[in-house]
Amino acid sequence: MADWQRTHTCGDIRANHEGSRVTLNGWVNTSRAYNSQVFIDLRDRYGVTQIVFEATSGTDAPGPLFKKANEAGREWCLSISGLVRKRLPGKENTELATGAVEVLAESIEVLNSSPTPPFEVTEFPGEELAGEEIRLGSRWLDLRRASLQKSLMLRHAMTSGIRRYLDKRGFVDVETPLLGRSTPEGARDYLVPSRVHPGSWYALPQSPQLYKQLLMVAGFDRYYQVARCLRDEDLRADRQPEFTQLDLEMAFVDQDDVLSLIEGLIVEVFRETLGVEISVPLARMPYYEAMSRFGSDKPDLRFGLEITDLSEWAKTTSFKVFSEAVEAGGAVRAINVVGAASRFSNTELKPGGKLSEMITRAGGKGLAWLKVEESKLTGGIEKFLGEQALASLPGLMAARPGDLLLFVADEPMKSAELLGDLRVHLANQLGLLAGKERDFKPLWVVDFPAFGFDKEGNRWVSNHHPFTSPRVEDLSLLETDPGKVKARAYDLVINGYECGGGSIRIHSSEVQARVFKVLGLEPEQAREKFGFLLDALKVGAPPHGGVALGLDRLAMLLVGTPNIRDVIAFPKNQRARDLMTGAPSPVEPRQLKELGL
Ligand code: AMO
Ligand code: AMP
Repeated sequence: MADWQRTHTCGDIRANHEGSRVTLNGWVNTSRAYNSQVFIDLRDRYGVTQIVFEATSGTDAPGPLFKKANEAGREWCLSISGLVRKRLPGKENTELATGAVEVLAESIEVLNSSPTPPFEVTEFPGEELAGEEIRLGSRWLDLRRASLQKSLMLRHAMTSGIRRYLDKRGFVDVETPLLGRSTPEGARDYLVPSRVHPGSWYALPQSPQLYKQLLMVAGFDRYYQVARCLRDEDLRADRQPEFTQLDLEMAFVDQDDVLSLIEGLIVEVFRETLGVEISVPLARMPYYEAMSRFGSDKPDLRFGLEITDLSEWAKTTSFKVFSEAVEAGGAVRAINVVGAASRFSNTELKPGGKLSEMITRAGGKGLAWLKVEESKLTGGIEKFLGEQALASLPGLMAARPGDLLLFVADEPMKSAELLGDLRVHLANQLGLLAGKERDFKPLWVVDFPAFGFDKEGNRWVSNHHPFTSPRVEDLSLLETDPGKVKARAYDLVINGYECGGGSIRIHSSEVQARVFKVLGLEPEQAREKFGFLLDALKVGAPPHGGVALGLDRLAMLLVGTPNIRDVIAFPKNQRARDLMTGAPSPVEPRQLKELGL
C-alpha cells in the first residue's frame, strides 16, 4: 500500500480511534484558516472528517505543512495522515457521525488540485443551490453533493433489493436488444440508421414488451430485467427521454398473481430502504371510480377534496350553464374545499381570476363557485339555481358554513379531469400535503377501457399497448363496440405518480389479429409489422402477463423529490439535452454519408 492510500474513510472515525494514526483520502469540503490553525473538512462518499493543521509549535513561522494546508482550496483532492484526537469540549459537532473527533495532521499530499468550482458542492441548510442548468453542466462536481450521493445510493439499495426479491422467486434476468423494431408504447421512437442497409432503421426500445412476451413463448416462465427504455416524448418533471424500468413477465398467471408479487416487492423495498411498512393487499380501484372521485387515473389519496357528480341535481336547477351541459350529455361536478371560503377572494374566483383561469387555460369553459355562509350560499350563481336546488346542495356536498364549493360543467370525462387538476393544485396551495412526504398511499387502478378514440386520427388506439388482453367477457364487443371493452390491465399508483403498469397479454394469435384490426391495422400491415409475434403466438404460447415499474419514479418517491433528475446520475434537461456532454450534437458529414443520409 502506498503512503498516501487511505487507512480509513472520511466517515469511519469515532472516539474509540483516539490516539491512532490514520490516513484519509478525500476532497476539501470547507477550509477555514486562522493565524495558528487551519481546519479542513475532508469529504468522501462516506462522510466528513475535520482535520486540523497547527502552526509549528514553539515558533511563530508556519511550517511547510501549515502552508500547504493553507493553499488547498475547495474540491482539491488530498491525502492527509495524522493522529486522531478528541475535539475540545464544546467543539463537538453532533450533526456529523465523526463529530466527536478530529485528526491532527502530520502530513499532507496533494493528489490533485482544482480551480475554484463554479458552484458550492457543500449544502448549507437554508441556502439555495446554484441553478440546476449550471449544476447539470458540471454534473461530475454536482454529483459530489451529499444529497445527490445519498439519492443514488438509495436508488442502488432499491434496485439491489428488487433483484434479491426476484432472484429468490426464480426469476431469470435476460437482456433484450436495444437495436430492434419499433414496439409501440404510445410515444415517438428514437431511430438509428443502418449503415449496412441504407434506408433502413432500427428503433430503440420504448420497452422490452415484445421480447419479454417471446421469452414466455420460449418457456422462460419468469423473466425480469432492469431495462433502459427510450421514448421521444414531451418531458415533464417525472419524465425523461431515457428511463429505467423493472420489467417483468410471468407465464401461467392471472392478474392477481402479478399484483400480489409486486405488492410483496413494494413492501420489501419500502421496508428495507425507508423502514416504512406498507400494508397489503393494496386497494384496487376501477378506472371509472378513480376518474369520477379524483378526476385522475393516478389519484393522490393522501388528501380528500373528492369530486361529487351533481349532474342529476343540475337538471333541477334553472342555471342554463349547468342544465344545458347535462342535457347535451355532459356532467356537472363539484369539489367541496372544506373551510376554504375565507382563503379565496371573490376576485380570485371570478372569471379572469387565478383559479378560474386554471380551468380555462386547460380548455374548460369556466368555474362556478359558492361560498357557504350560516344561512345562505353566495357567489353570484345562487340567483340562477332556484330555491330547491340551493337547499339540497349542502346535503349533497356535505358542506358546512365556511366551505367553498367549486363547480365545473363540461363533457363527462373533461369535467372530472379539470377538477382533478384543480384538486391537486388546491392541495398544494392550501398546504394539505405538508408533512406528508413520508406518507405513502399506493393503490392499483384496474379495469381500464382497452381502447380510446383518437378524434384527430379518427381511429381507436390502445390505452395500454396493443398486446394487452381484453377481458374475456368483452371479446364479443371487439368489432361492435370497442369503446366498451375493458382491458386486463393495471397501474400501480403511489401519491399521484404512475409508478408502474402492466397487463395480462393476448396469447392467442387470432385475438391478437382481431385487436390489430380494431386499431386499424389491415392484416397485411399487421403481418408486415408483427408477423413474428403472430407466428410465435401460434406455437403453443402460454397464458402470460407482467408489469413494468418505473424505477426512476419509485426512486423519486423514496428520496422524496419531485424532480426525476435528482435520482438519475446523468439526466437530460427539460429539452432533452445533456448539458454536460452537449448531446445531441451535429456529426461529421462523412458519418452521414456513410449512413446514406
Ligand atoms: P408503461 O408505458 O406504463 O408500460 O411504462 C411503465 C412505467 O414506466 C414509467 N415511465 C417513465 N418514467 C420516466 N420517464 C418516462 N418517460 C416514462 N415513461 C414511462 C412509468 C410507467 O408506469 N411495456 C409496458 C409494461 C407492461 O405492460 O408490462 C410499459 O412500458 O412509471
Ligand atoms: P356566465 O353566465 O357565462 O357569465 O357564467 C356565470 C358563471 O359560471 C361564471 O362564474 C363562469 O365562470 C361560470 N361558468 C361558465 N361556464 C361554466 C362551466 N362550463 N362550468 C362551470 N362554470 C361555468
